Amino acid sequence: MTTDRTLIIVGHPNLADSRANAARIAEIENLGNVTVHDLYQNYPDFGIDVAREQQLLREHDTVILQFPLCWYSVTPLVKSWFDVVLNYGFAFTLDGSASELRGKKAWLAVSVGSSLDTYTTEGVARRSLDEYLAPVRQTLEFCQFDYQGVHAVYGMMLNPSEDELILDAKEYGRLVASNGTPVG
Ligand SMILES: Cc1cc2nc3c(=O)[nH]c(=O)nc-3n(C[C@H](O)[C@H](O)[C@H](O)COP(=O)(O)O)c2cc1C
Repeated sequence: MTTDRTLIIVGHPNLADSRANAARIAEIENLGNVTVHDLYQNYPDFGIDVAREQQLLREHDTVILQFPLCWYSVTPLVKSWFDVVLNYGFAFTLDGSASELRGKKAWLAVSVGSSLDTYTTEGVARRSLDEYLAPVRQTLEFCQFDYQGVHAVYGMMLNPSEDELILDAKEYGRLVASNGTPVG
């Protein structure tokens, strides 16, 4: 059994209307050693408490950023969180000599509207999700997180069944509970 502490930073603008992210949260919110931190609930006006966010990061070993894909990227508050929380001296120095985040594991839990085959060279999106999320990966790696990849659920705009959602949420819960990391 792991004693690693996991911080799940949720960046969904409207969880009341969510299916994928709401199901995922329901699956992990009562797990031990897991802190679920809802950015839009805490900072509806984008007034992020930087000291509090940095303290939360210090107190955890693994950080999961959970968000719905928004115009091929993170949601606006997650981007703002990068902008103000990952600041010089705390998250990086220009010569790479220091970061309070060094060695913490980080991965992304992303829900995607279109289907997986959309995110191929032949598909409408023409690029993979990993390609779209490369700036996020680089941001985390620049801050010396140990980046573990993306755990995605696709096709949310294709009205998946409740069973499909439950399956995805259970897989996510299993991954978080076992302190596992995304495959592929
Ligand atoms: C403003 C906005 C932008 C979106 N951009 C994308 C996108 O770039 N690619 C995509 O596949 N889906 C996109 N979607 C669809 C969402 O990713 C999808 O509805 C969400 O992941 C579903 O998760 P939920 O059930 O937790 O809300 C977008 C949705 C909104 C509202």
